[in-house]
Amino acid sequence: MEISVKTINFETVKSPCIVIGVLDKHKLTDSAKQIDQLSHGFITQILRRGDISGDIGDSLMLHDVPGLKSARVLLVGCGKSGELTHQKFSNIISNASTELSKAKIKNAIISLTDLDNKSLSHTMLARLATEAIHQNDYRFSELKKDSAPSLKKVTLHFAEKHETAMKKARLAVQIGQAIGKGRNTARDLGNLPGNICTPTYLAKQASSYEKNYSKLKTTILNQKEMEKLGMGSLLSVSKGSRTPPKFIVMQYSGGKKADRPYVLVGKGVTFDSGGISIKPGAQMDEMKFDMCGAASVMGTMVSVNELKLPINVVAIVPSVENMPDGAASKPGDIVTSMSGQTIEILNTDAEGRLILCDALTYSEKFKPKAVIDVATLTGACVIALGAHPAGLLSNQQKLADQILAAGADSGDRAWQLPLWDDYQEQLKSNFADMANIGGREAGTVTAACFLSRFTKKLNWAHLDIAGVAWLGGANKGATGRPVPLLTQYLMDRCGKQYAL
Ligand code: BES
Ligand code: MN
Ligand code: ZN
Repeated sequence: MEISVKTINFETVKSPCIVIGVLDKHKLTDSAKQIDQLSHGFITQILRRGDISGDIGDSLMLHDVPGLKSARVLLVGCGKSGELTHQKFSNIISNASTELSKAKIKNAIISLTDLDNKSLSHTMLARLATEAIHQNDYRFSELKKDSAPSLKKVTLHFAEKHETAMKKARLAVQIGQAIGKGRNTARDLGNLPGNICTPTYLAKQASSYEKNYSKLKTTILNQKEMEKLGMGSLLSVSKGSRTPPKFIVMQYSGGKKADRPYVLVGKGVTFDSGGISIKPGAQMDEMKFDMCGAASVMGTMVSVNELKLPINVVAIVPSVENMPDGAASKPGDIVTSMSGQTIEILNTDAEGRLILCDALTYSEKFKPKAVIDVATLTGACVIALGAHPAGLLSNQQKLADQILAAGADSGDRAWQLPLWDDYQEQLKSNFADMANIGGREAGTVTAACFLSRFTKKLNWAHLDIAGVAWLGGANKGATGRPVPLLTQYLMDRCGKQYAL
């Protein structure tokens, strides 16, 4: 997908299609007003007939509009003036690109970054438009023939005269493209089935990124090396599977050598059957998405490399399959983690925390500025927050605030839950330092409490993405979240240069 920004002269341009916005109560956006004038009121006349309302989701394709050299004008509904949000704007762009592809249009001008609103700058809208066009362009075509959308080239009309403003707009598109690419990478990894996307596959993919990016170095630890490091908790999960575990470490060096890195840790359970505490059959296929945390940190590494951010970032992916083999862990088994703390496994389906705890201990060696782990960790998070925000828990309020801000600014939101000591007692075990489950109440919090016992030395936050990583039902598929949030968080650490 080719996306650029330009100031378009609507009178002289010869495009297959120009996309403009219609607001609630038939109000026109600035560019729609311009086209209306060029066509001597043709647009207002159509609106008066009532063929399009201006609601988000509405659209109308017009052919041979008088006064223009372009073949078509696509009117798209943009809702109430001034009430724009990230989500609404993405829907508007997504509707527009779907309509363009329905009409088999390859090349279009989209003029929707001039929508009036209080919170989103026009440059931010250019970035969000770019992201949404990438989102809409995505097809999972590796294992299924699917017709590719026709749209290949989009020019975003940007009505700014000053070169500095145009420069910002070009940066906005560049950021949108980097996030779009990272997000679609995460979606591809997430959508692949468990028989293909194994820990070995994830490791091979991670290693393959090296050839595109000179600042990236990837190391893979195998089972023997993990044994040597004492990762008894992680290995207790993988021993119930015939697929070997992999521990992936991707190191991006965009900053100075001495700069302490930001570390991202992603849960990479390539299939979660539950193990001996086996899950019920309904929707068990969706547990192939249990590596979406891994996919999101790998996708974020793609975005970071595309943008060449001037910081150091490490992505760590502990990857295993959770299966009920004869060698699998049994409820009541006690294992020793890399930290030396012992864990009584009361439920083999609480496996995510068992692999993350060793990865978090391993991360200490990088002396990180901050560590964020990302995991499809608890069904309880889906019950608490649904599919809109990720759950956020942290041992440092400043870090939590930075992540909340990155979520709000990117439109890929998180919501904080309490990590109070009061919950810790739910993890008490009579036989080991802790149990791996904390009972029915506050499942997302007790999972984070478990992790907090391995992050005492770290500036750490945990994102539970169980509700946001994939969609079920007719639109089943990975979303690529929280690549936008993580990329935003990392851009924010680079000073003001990526602010839009
Ligand atoms: N991968 C699951 C969490 C999950 C379940 C995510 C459903 C999305 C949808 C995780 O490994 C798990 O099984 N968690 C258990 C924990 C419980 C045994 C304490 C859960 O949430 O039921
Ligand atoms: Mn599980
Ligand atoms: Zn799991």
